[in-house]
Amino acid sequence: MRIKQKFNHDWYYIDNFKEEYTNKDSEMDRFCPVLLPHANKELPYSYFDEKEYQFISCYKKDFTIEKDAKGKTIFIEFEGVMAACEVYVNGKYVGEHRGGYVPAVFDITPFVQYESKNTMVVKVDSREREDIPPFGNVIDYLTFGGIYRDVYLYILDTIHINNVFYNYKIKDDKIILEPIVYITSNEEKDIEIVLSLDNKEFSWNVTVQKGKEQELILNSIEITNIEMWDIKNPVRYSACMILKHQGKTLDNYETKLGFRNIQIDETGFHLNGRKIKLRGLNRHQSFPYVGYAMPKRVQQKDADILKYELGLNIVRTSHYPQSPYFLDRCDEIGLLVLEEIPGWQHISKREDWRNCVLSDVEKMIARDRNHPAIIMWGVRINESGDDHELYTRTNALARKLDPTRPTTGIRCICNSEFLEDVYAMNDFIYDGGETVLRSQQQVTGLNHKVPYIVTEYNGHMFPTKRFDNEHRLIEHAMRHAIIQNEAGLRNEIMGAIGWCAFDYNTHCDFGSGDRICYHGVMDMFRIPKWASYVYLSQVSPKEKLVLQPLSHWTIGDRNQGGVSPLIVLTNCDHIEIKVEGKSLGKYYPDDNFRGLEHPPITVDFQFGEWGVGWGDLELLGYVNDEIAITRKFAKNPYLSRIDVKADDTLLYNDEMDATRIVCKLVDQYGNILPYLNEVLYLETQGDIEIIGPKTVATMGGCIGFWIKTTGKKANTEATVTIRCDRCKEENIKIQLRSMK
Ligand code: GAL
Repeated sequence: MRIKQKFNHDWYYIDNFKEEYTNKDSEMDRFCPVLLPHANKELPYSYFDEKEYQFISCYKKDFTIEKDAKGKTIFIEFEGVMAACEVYVNGKYVGEHRGGYVPAVFDITPFVQYESKNTMVVKVDSREREDIPPFGNVIDYLTFGGIYRDVYLYILDTIHINNVFYNYKIKDDKIILEPIVYITSNEEKDIEIVLSLDNKEFSWNVTVQKGKEQELILNSIEITNIEMWDIKNPVRYSACMILKHQGKTLDNYETKLGFRNIQIDETGFHLNGRKIKLRGLNRHQSFPYVGYAMPKRVQQKDADILKYELGLNIVRTSHYPQSPYFLDRCDEIGLLVLEEIPGWQHISKREDWRNCVLSDVEKMIARDRNHPAIIMWGVRINESGDDHELYTRTNALARKLDPTRPTTGIRCICNSEFLEDVYAMNDFIYDGGETVLRSQQQVTGLNHKVPYIVTEYNGHMFPTKRFDNEHRLIEHAMRHAIIQNEAGLRNEIMGAIGWCAFDYNTHCDFGSGDRICYHGVMDMFRIPKWASYVYLSQVSPKEKLVLQPLSHWTIGDRNQGGVSPLIVLTNCDHIEIKVEGKSLGKYYPDDNFRGLEHPPITVDFQFGEWGVGWGDLELLGYVNDEIAITRKFAKNPYLSRIDVKADDTLLYNDEMDATRIVCKLVDQYGNILPYLNEVLYLETQGDIEIIGPKTVATMGGCIGFWIKTTGKKANTEATVTIRCDRCKEENIKIQLRSMK
């Protein structure tokens, strides 16, 4: 039986590296205790030097291995270390790994001692090294350092499974499953492989050879009565692959599966026989202060935000493989994924760099090919030029490792060599003028139609801060609406994935000079800008009712005053507007947006004069001729309270767990006061800590922060207190429990 244990506790960290640290008994005085995932450097929110986290650091941990493990194989797996690492056990060099986004696995069996102290040392190089993609030139994002994902220890039989690919086809209503198992064995042996799936068992008798990672393609089996995985009904099954010898279990390898039929061609994207227009945004996996080092719950929450607070059906993991927790959650909730290898425009001529690209393709697909949510692999460096040699190889490798999914390659250059199955274009043509998206033929230069997707738009063409003025926020939202509308109208486009979901920290060569690209439809705390509601309003009103005016409802904030035209993003059938209780009439979806399921409603009206006649606004949203939702906006907003909301109030304290708390300064109707910047004092009591500064200023009326557990005492209660000089303090109780 396999033993898989989290290996995140009891690490010690220092922000430099000396050869002597690798000695088993070297002093650790200046090391400090840390719990993984960990950022090698906590950073300010903005205006910092990106070189601050680009250095070599050292992590050290003592551990014991029980004597029962003698004769077994012992592995250590790092799910993500930026950007390269070298591992030493008991003073001996074990190996190195290059690439910050895919797992690093080491066999430490020959290096460990049993029932006595072992010491593991990890040298972590977080510099932008020329031999590792995405580095070698500029990139528009930061690659925060540290051991930033979970680490696992595996104790396995000498005959064990390294990986399983549940390769399947769908025939009529049957699943024809042809599992491929990768096995390592220290001897030639006859074994039985048993698959338990959906309360059924299937078995195969095979002979394994002595050797590493031999590929065994098992005879196909038919599975009936399977419910299909779908974005609306993401049904998953637990599969367990068991290795047996003479009745004794050698290994058990668990995977969550979902079966679905995807068809991608020049007519579009089809899921289980249904054509679906893909509507998505790009996600960077970064967060304020700690960069990439956020645990399971926060990774999962991002998927939830994309699905439930933005109403998307697809996310692109720009520009690298992302957290397994994020992808698992996409499976679980039914959010499609386009996953791609690390890189940004630059292709190196260095052989080691190019080999790293191929290793990234291999490791990404080996890790993720059982995720039902993933629908294609991006196997070109984002927006790079042609490189026949490299891309012929990445495509061939991807197709070999996973013949079930199409490859794609994301480009920004027209007429580039089409080696993939799906042509993906970052189409930034729209600048507010006539052309919204280019035609397929203009982009591909081909004389026939191909499967075609738009993988970025907007972004740097219209950077917008959540606290920008009303004109800019409106145009930002409408540019997203105009492009989504156009993609909706064009049959030749299977969908459009905008740039991007969340603002992100970047290098000084990009963004607003403060190391932030304000390209998100949400800010870095995942608080919505108005553009968010373009996406969210596309969901069915049965799922969530949306009624968002593109106005702060003030008489003098726009040029020339007033709020006309008043655009309302909604999924209601129509709306009614009342000012000071008096109806101004009913208004209907805008005919210019037939490519959207729920077009915006544009209201041209004059109300009030400069200084006189302004009043409270009431918006009423009707579904099936009944009032389904109302919103109120004050003529005379004043600060009423801090609206404080935690994503979760129960955390696990025996590991690094975290949750977000959003604080909004709101008026008497609960609306954010968009120009209010007040100081908030954040305090905690109990076994939790605030990530980032404890004194913050709201930005445009609100701010978020994360709290984390410390890995110490479970079954207690902690409190977060938020104070502001102008209003009543707020307290949130957090229950701390053990995971087990
Ligand atoms: C694209 C690039 C993205 C981001 C975006 C900004 O060219 O792929 O990573 O930089 O521009 O709009």
